[in-house]
Amino acid sequence: MSLPDLFTPVRLGAIDLANRIVMAPMTRSRAGTDTIPTPVMEQYYAQRAGAGLIISEATQISDDAQGYPNTPGVHTPAHAAAWRRVTDAVHARGGRIVVQLWHVGRISHPMFQPGGALPVAPSAIAAAGELYTGEGMKPFPTPRALETHEIPRLVAAFADAARRAVVEAGFDGVELHAANGYLIDQFLRDGTNHRTDAYGGSVENRARFLLEVTEAVSAAIGADRTGVRLSPNGTFNDMRDSNPAALFTHVVGALNRFGLAFLHVIEGLDGPMAPAPEVERLAPLLRRTFTGPFMINGGYDRATADRALADGSADVVSFGVPFIANPDLPTRLRDGTPLAQPDRATMYGGDERGYTDYPAAA
Ligand code: PHB
Repeated sequence: MSLPDLFTPVRLGAIDLANRIVMAPMTRSRAGTDTIPTPVMEQYYAQRAGAGLIISEATQISDDAQGYPNTPGVHTPAHAAAWRRVTDAVHARGGRIVVQLWHVGRISHPMFQPGGALPVAPSAIAAAGELYTGEGMKPFPTPRALETHEIPRLVAAFADAARRAVVEAGFDGVELHAANGYLIDQFLRDGTNHRTDAYGGSVENRARFLLEVTEAVSAAIGADRTGVRLSPNGTFNDMRDSNPAALFTHVVGALNRFGLAFLHVIEGLDGPMAPAPEVERLAPLLRRTFTGPFMINGGYDRATADRALADGSADVVSFGVPFIANPDLPTRLRDGTPLAQPDRATMYGGDERGYTDYPAAA
C-alpha cells in the first residue's frame, strides 16, 4: 500500500470523503440581517463541492450566540429550510458538508443580543480591543457571567441546533467550534474562566462545558457525525492560558471516549491564526493523544500537506483562505495550477462580488 496523499479517499466517522482536502470554516457574512442563509450562499458552497468535505462558516446555535453582522443561524425552522437548499446543492455535486456550530460568548455586543442584553460568558472579563459591528468598531463590553443554573440550557441549545442541522437541514454532521476565543474556548482557558463552580478552576472543571456539549450533541446526532475544533496555540480574541499543553492534552484525552468523527486542530504554520515563531506547536502532541481521525489547518500547500499525510502528522488537511478565490481548489492542487489571491476588501459582507464571482481555472 502506498502512503496517503491529498487525493486518497478517507472516512471520518460516518462521513465518506472523496479526497482529504477539507474546506475550513470561514465567516463571510452573506446571510440576511435576519440571519437566514441566502441564495448566494447556496451557489458559493455548491461551487466548492469538490472539497472532500466542506465545513460551513460558524453558525449560531441560539438567538444570543451572534457577534458579527450577517452571520447565519441554525436554530429555527426557517434557518433549516434555507440551509437545506445549500446542503442539497452540495450533495447534488457529490460533496459533503457539515455545519460549524458556535456561540460567540463575550465576542459580541448588546446590538447583536435579544433585547439589547449584555453578552454572556464564563466570567465577567472583557476582551481587549474592539469589535467589528457593521456600524464601525466598538469596544468589547464586559459580558455577564453565566449563572450555574443557566449552563444546561446552553448545552441543550447546542444539541437542538445539531439535531435541526442534521435532521431538518440535511447536513452530514457538525463541527463544534471550541476554538478562536468563542464561548467554549472561553470556558477552557484560565485567562477567560475565573469561575469558582464546577465549570472553573482545574483543567477538569474548565473542560466540563465542552465535554457536556460533546456528550449532548453526540447523543442527538451520533458521535460519528460530530467533530470538534480546537486552537491550542491561539491568541486571537485576546485569549491566554497559563498551561496550554496540560489543558489541551487533558481535553483531547477526555474527548477520546466519544469516538468522534474527527478532531480539527488549528496549528497555524502561517496566516492570521499563526502563533509566534518561538511558541511550541501543540498539534503534534495532540495528534499523539487523539485516537480518532486528525485534521490540521493553517498555511498548508500541496507539498506540505502531502508530507503531513505521508509522515502521519494528520489524516486530513483543511484549507481556508485558498478556497475563497479558488472554488476549484482540489483541481488546481492536483494539476499544479497557480492559485488566485482573494480580495481582502470583499471577504466580509456585501454581495456576490468577491464571493461567487471567482472563476474555476479554464
Ligand atoms: C471572524 O469572523 O473573524 C472569525 C470567526 C470565527 C473564527 C475566527 C474568526 O473562528
